[in-house]
Amino acid sequence: MKKITIAIDGFSSTGKSTLAKQLANHLGYIYVDTGAMYRAVALFAMQNGCINADSFDKQTLINSLPNIKLQFKFNTDLGFAEMYLNEANVETEIRTIEVSSFVSKVAEVSEVRTKLVEQQKEMGKDKAIVMDGRDIGTVVFPDAELKIFMTASATTRAQRRYDELVAKGDAVTFEEVLANVEERDYIDTHRKDSPLVMAEDAIEIDNSHLNRKEQFELVLELVSEIAKTI
Ligand code: DC
Repeated sequence: MKKITIAIDGFSSTGKSTLAKQLANHLGYIYVDTGAMYRAVALFAMQNGCINADSFDKQTLINSLPNIKLQFKFNTDLGFAEMYLNEANVETEIRTIEVSSFVSKVAEVSEVRTKLVEQQKEMGKDKAIVMDGRDIGTVVFPDAELKIFMTASATTRAQRRYDELVAKGDAVTFEEVLANVEERDYIDTHRKDSPLVMAEDAIEIDNSHLNRKEQFELVLELVSEIAKTI
């Protein structure tokens, strides 16, 4: 089957990464979680004096960008690539509620987006890639053969994220997680640079009432249809 580029965008906690991993494993494609890259930059900012008295010092982060090295390294036991920030594995640290609460502010910074988009384009230059994020079908790979836009209600998404965090032992409340999901939706869709919008040629999937298997089979069918036409 001919190799294609698959762009998966959508709101937070819509299960983009679950679907993307399933597709990449099944097709033998590379999987890239671009949210992890923005999260790693947010973690760097939190650890390197870019937050002063609760306010975000953008300029310090912009000046530090050349010192931020992001890499994905495949973990054969887990079956996916983990995020490394300046050679340290940060896969767990980037998933905390503190990083989740701060990351949208970092993702608004154009200089950050320019750096990450450039690295993402480079990773996808040979196709055979599934990339998920917010601007993949619109900015990173506007020519992707398959673009999926995933949605689900805010409460469904907050419940999923809450269950994940509780399973990891994080002390959070459902209300806190819902507020975080809603706040991120707002910032992601209202920012000036690359706001979250559905690409005109994307296929929308609302998975509020679809299980993982149904969703995977639906998208796999789309992949085979597209592969036949190119
Ligand atoms: O998918 P996620 O929740 O891990 O993403 C973390 C944050 O990064 C989210 O608030 C939106 C932002 N993001 C983005 O602006 N562009 C991307 N391509 C991926 C994520």
